[in-house]
Amino acid sequence: MDWGLKNRLSRIIKLQNNRALMLAVDHGYFLGPTEKLEDPKKVIAPLLRHCDSLMVTRGVQRASVSATSDTPMVLRVSGGSSIIGDDLSQEDITVSIEDAIRLNASALAMSIFVGSKYEYQTIVNLGKLVSEAEKYGIPVLAVTAVGKELGKDARYLSLACRVAAEQGAHIVKTYYCDNFEKVVQSCPVPIIVAGGKKIPERDALQLTYNAIKAGAVGVDMGRNIWQSEHPVPMIKAARAIIHGNLNVDQAFKLYKKLVSEEPKKKQKSQKKKSNNKKKPQNNPNQKKSNNKKKPQNNPNQKKPVLTKK
Ligand code: 5RP
Repeated sequence: MDWGLKNRLSRIIKLQNNRALMLAVDHGYFLGPTEKLEDPKKVIAPLLRHCDSLMVTRGVQRASVSATSDTPMVLRVSGGSSIIGDDLSQEDITVSIEDAIRLNASALAMSIFVGSKYEYQTIVNLGKLVSEAEKYGIPVLAVTAVGKELGKDARYLSLACRVAAEQGAHIVKTYYCDNFEKVVQSCPVPIIVAGGKKIPERDALQLTYNAIKAGAVGVDMGRNIWQSEHPVPMIKAARAIIHGNLNVDQAFKLYKKLVSEEPKKKQKSQKKKSNNKKKPQNNPNQKKSNNKKKPQNNPNQKKPVLTKK
């Protein structure tokens, strides 16, 4: 393996324990403004220092991630369909290798849709992307995307992961399922697990723990972190499993402890805000004064909407 490729990979999968915590925020590339990811900048900022790498599109990286960040970027380079289009599996490569290099990508990510209408196109694209990226020492992460009609079982996922690895993917991302050890055992490259739809926090931590126990290097988790009411405690708890070897009970206890510490700060700032707000017109105990407040000068007050008749 070339030095550059090895070096980039080692920033994503940590050498000391062969583990990885990737934060996925690339959902908008086909879902648009996904719930709780409407403002990527706000979502990413407090989480960035807690993940090992960030999975992101070039648009969000440029607009919403500080260029001074030293977190490795796993750049999604495939796309072309949206959730309201005809077929999500119709993807192509949408980012040039030159642009990926300009963005200092530590890895490139693309989806393959094994068993779908566009299976051939996406698998050939993966092979081509690996050939191109290896010229520059950039690893490729293949996402085994799962359509509605395709099962999330070990038989199917083993097939999809193996196909990705055979095309030269350096890491394969897939979904957790029963008998996941079989998926890991038959894939010759590291497997990282997607979080999937939002589930209760403890269940997401259980998934993280199970995936690692079955041999995955870690998780590439999105919704179960930033759709949580408490994203920072959640990512810290997942991190504690991946890098701190905590079990699920310990990690969930940590999550609850961090949550219990969080609202105090929020409550304080909310109290402060409400103390600053004066609503003289609603206070029956307040004496009338000649220094009448002019509501139109209050920047916190919403202006009435003017409509043309
Ligand atoms: C979409 C992706 C997402 O990054 C992936 O699904 C991970 O996010 P989540 O944990 O929300 O499932 O690759 O194709």
